[in-house]
Amino acid sequence: TPEQLDAMIRAAKQSLGERTVVMGHFYQRDEIVAHADFIGDSFQLAQQAKAHPEAEAIVFCGVHFMAETADILSTAEQAVILPNPAAGCSMADMADEDSVEECWADLVDTLGPHATAEDGTVLTDEHGEPLASVIPVTYMNSSAALKAFCGRNGGIVCTSSNAATVLKWAFARGQRVLFFPDQHLGRNTAKAMGVPLAQMPLWNPRKPLGGNSAEQLRDARVILWHGFCSVHRRFTVAQIEQARAEHPGCTVVVHPECPMEVVDAADSAGSTDHIRKAVAAAEPGQTFAIGTEINMVNRLAAEHPEHTIFCLDPVICPCSTMYRIHPGYLAWVLEELVEGRVVNQVSVQSDVAEDASVALERMLAAVP
Ligand code: 13P
Ligand code: SF4
Repeated sequence: TPEQLDAMIRAAKQSLGERTVVMGHFYQRDEIVAHADFIGDSFQLAQQAKAHPEAEAIVFCGVHFMAETADILSTAEQAVILPNPAAGCSMADMADEDSVEECWADLVDTLGPHATAEDGTVLTDEHGEPLASVIPVTYMNSSAALKAFCGRNGGIVCTSSNAATVLKWAFARGQRVLFFPDQHLGRNTAKAMGVPLAQMPLWNPRKPLGGNSAEQLRDARVILWHGFCSVHRRFTVAQIEQARAEHPGCTVVVHPECPMEVVDAADSAGSTDHIRKAVAAAEPGQTFAIGTEINMVNRLAAEHPEHTIFCLDPVICPCSTMYRIHPGYLAWVLEELVEGRVVNQVSVQSDVAEDASVALERMLAAVP
């Protein structure tokens, strides 16, 4: 029963004490969040993974790319455990290493390695170093192999809470950005920074030059991979119009993985932590229509009875892979740890981890 699982998790955690840290993403179900020592957005959880070298094991209740990141940022002696190894992310799967490598080879072939002016002279930064023609930026929601690709090629990782800061970092070093896997986060962030849509071509890996002409690529500022989140893609402007009609004066807050029209029609957009803070900072008695994963929206509603909070999508929209972290799996991995056994460990190959940590550390250093 749920009560038995709850008691098993509590008992195992008590017996493990400080040897184990349980981390949970905001999208986890309540029965998991109840046991998390730390809960946060993907950036905060990456920071936390570095902050607990005393723990022998980090049990990561989230999805695979987050656990990989925790493994890269934690010490070599620590084990990172993903309670259910089938908890992936469909967006992360939309960019595979081979396709990105092919795209990169095409871009370098077409644009050359360095930024150039129209007359062909090489552009330099304030120290006289040549600017790159393209800087690769990967969203945290990607495999460790792609973070390593960025580490090797002068690139960086971003999350939804720091994408603008990271794009500024990239533009200080290069003429263009190749942003993957999420086209929406890339487009929404670059648009808010003033990049015209015409300079944000989409890269479709099934077409030559991603479906673009060499001219379009030369003109580009941000080349967007064609990935998306199947949860956030569901939100529409019609839902926002309906929410505003039924709840005049309501505040619409959405995640930047939503399509551009939805972000434009909302009052604000930001990471899961931004959404939580927007609600927490409001005067009592507000109405919020939220465009993100349903477990988080329902928890916010329960935590803030002083507000009216509902999800923009009337049909339940869970992240099905986040939901795969069932309390049964958490109980099992913790009980195995009590017995001295590590199960469902996520272990990034050391050479990949080394390159990926370069790109992750660039992000951690770039974000104040
Ligand atoms: P955050 O970085 O906002 O926590 O988002 C992670 C995620 O997967 C959103 O779909
Ligand atoms: Fe991936 Fe979307 Fe789930 Fe986030 S909500 S983990 S992007 S599938």
